[in-house]
Amino acid sequence: MKLTINGQVTEVDVEDDTPLLWVLREQLGLTGTKYGCGIALCGACTVHIDGVAQRSCVLPVSAVRENQKITTIEGLGVQQFHPVQEAWAEIDVAQCGYCQPGMIMAAASLLAQNPEPTDEEIRSEITNICRCGTYPRVLEGVKRAAQRMASTQKAGGSNEQA
Ligand code: FES
Ligand code: FES
Repeated sequence: MKLTINGQVTEVDVEDDTPLLWVLREQLGLTGTKYGCGIALCGACTVHIDGVAQRSCVLPVSAVRENQKITTIEGLGVQQFHPVQEAWAEIDVAQCGYCQPGMIMAAASLLAQNPEPTDEEIRSEITNICRCGTYPRVLEGVKRAAQRMASTQKAGGSNEQA
């Protein structure tokens, strides 16, 4: 079957019920997307499907159509860092880093849909689990990124691959 991943149409030969996460990691070597719980709880496996955050560990690959755009952490901020990535670096959000690709993808998706989230909206929408407890810095990072995205959008830019 064909998938559009990070702007490229890619052919994969897998069973229909294979979770997208394993197609990304094992078939395609896109190991930025992490495995945590495998049951849609932790968010380590978060990718975007047409810009919306999805937990790829429970998403059968056959549920994604060829014309839908899958974006992994490797496809975010390719030409220049995404504002979320810039904010993450400025605030030094990551601790061990394991959960952070999923956190960043969740944050980027939230801000694409809600450019000025309240603290409560950030807490309720980003349900990713961090065993290191970076939640306060994630909150600050999302708010910093929101400021950056506002200025990026004014300039007409977008950092996600088409
Ligand atoms: S690995 Fe997918 S939500 Fe935890
Ligand atoms: S930074 Fe270690 S799990 Fe989140």
